[in-house]
Amino acid sequence: MLKGASSGSVPCSPGNIDPILPPDLTQCSPAFAVSVAGPPVNLTFNCCLPLPKKKVKNFTFKKGRKRVKKVRRAAHHVDAAYIEKYNKAYELMKALPADDPRSFAQQADVHCAFCNGAYKQVGAENVTLQIHFSWLFLPWHRWYLYFHERILASLLGDPEFALVYWNWDNQIDGNMMPAFFAKNNTPVYDEKRNPAVQPPAIVRLAVLSTYNTTAEIINDNLNQMYQSVVTASTPELFTGGAYRVGTDLANSTVLNSPLGGSFEDGVHNAIHFWTGSPTFPLLQDMGVFSTASRDPIFYAHHGNVDRLWEVWKHDMPGGQRYDHTDPDFLEAEFVFYDENANLVKVKAKDALDNERLDITYTKVYADQLWINYSPNATTTTPSPTLDLPTIGLASDTSDSITLGKRLSAWVTQPSFKDLKNLKVLTIQGLEITREFFTQILVFVNLPNADINTKTNTAEYVGTFNIVPTFSKKKHLKTNVKFEIGDNIKRIGLQDEAKVIITIVVGTYEDQEADVTIKGMTIKYD
Ligand code: C2O
Repeated sequence: MLKGASSGSVPCSPGNIDPILPPDLTQCSPAFAVSVAGPPVNLTFNCCLPLPKKKVKNFTFKKGRKRVKKVRRAAHHVDAAYIEKYNKAYELMKALPADDPRSFAQQADVHCAFCNGAYKQVGAENVTLQIHFSWLFLPWHRWYLYFHERILASLLGDPEFALVYWNWDNQIDGNMMPAFFAKNNTPVYDEKRNPAVQPPAIVRLAVLSTYNTTAEIINDNLNQMYQSVVTASTPELFTGGAYRVGTDLANSTVLNSPLGGSFEDGVHNAIHFWTGSPTFPLLQDMGVFSTASRDPIFYAHHGNVDRLWEVWKHDMPGGQRYDHTDPDFLEAEFVFYDENANLVKVKAKDALDNERLDITYTKVYADQLWINYSPNATTTTPSPTLDLPTIGLASDTSDSITLGKRLSAWVTQPSFKDLKNLKVLTIQGLEITREFFTQILVFVNLPNADINTKTNTAEYVGTFNIVPTFSKKKHLKTNVKFEIGDNIKRIGLQDEAKVIITIVVGTYEDQEADVTIKGMTIKYD
């Protein structure tokens, strides 16, 4: 019986919970990919995990366990001795036999298997297991790095060995591809990267932007971080929404739709697109989840993603932030192979505190630049007579609204009498192709915004970057949420009964994306 399918957003009682469980590894099907650009391709990836030879172990924090602290440092600050060691570790991992679950190829396949439809959910046998686009994203990737790092350390015989983080949000000196990843013929080089983004190219978090100067790119990067991380102060906004047994990316309803966090959908996905190679049909490796972790820089990218989850929790103005407490989140379970090639079962709740996992990150002063960023508004009052449609709350029976390249509409907002001030825009029932890279950019109070509109202002709300994730189902259905109260206050629209929301659709190489939504609402959260 598929309990999760009807539970919607109603919280489950502890006796009746539907957390995601590890899949049945004997039931694995190849993952699929089709062409993005260039000649038609039909690729099948066999990412199935090897079957365990021994009994699956449960991860526990044993009392009296030997604790070795691992300090993850910024990739652009490590010294030559570390770089040599890091390369050695990947050389050893790549030299393991292909069927060894610790080998580099198998490590890469783990990611592919859980994003590309290799497994079905236990308890909902028709529904694909997907660890992106929801609250599973951060804990799953934290565990993935945890075991990956332990395998590298054990191959080196150095328990203190720690991964690095690619500090792409650092607008002082980290916003380039770290030089040692770009050196060819090394174990951490990958030829399937965009040649245009080798150092000294500056990371563009607004990936389709056309800024010409470094100052413009940096200024926009700060706003991307501000909108993706700083104003997204609830666990749902930042880390993503509920994903339980039955949650289905391909066949969800408006009510039961998955929801990626602004951090995952925004800057995290941007780095994938930015790094992937446009000369390969699927923007391999980083530009498509099926192949992303075949590029060793993936693990440094996710080191930073993992670090920023901590920064979001502990270092924001306004104090401590919290993770989800829903038992379907806490009790979600995954499996990974460890450094002894044992299959280990882990829970999401055991990944919420890096210190318990003996992992720390070096502090980054440059975080303050985006934490304290203050985007300027370029508009003040809206034109109250502007003749635009009004879009409101939808249900599943509502007609779909076609976006084309852009859509502007009035959306009513609750009156300011409410004391709570976290105001959330929900784009309901977004349906979109997942076959090529698409961007959904959202603006407030800019009825003429289009793909060329700058995203460095307070009118810019955020972006949903859709990194392709292939499966037999070509569309995904999801809700998208953004904190919008900060934008509205900066512009001075608190007292308006309605505001203009503009959604702009951008695609890689201007492909025709047919995008529809069901509705839009603005509510206090
Ligand atoms: Cu699983 Cu950065 O993606």
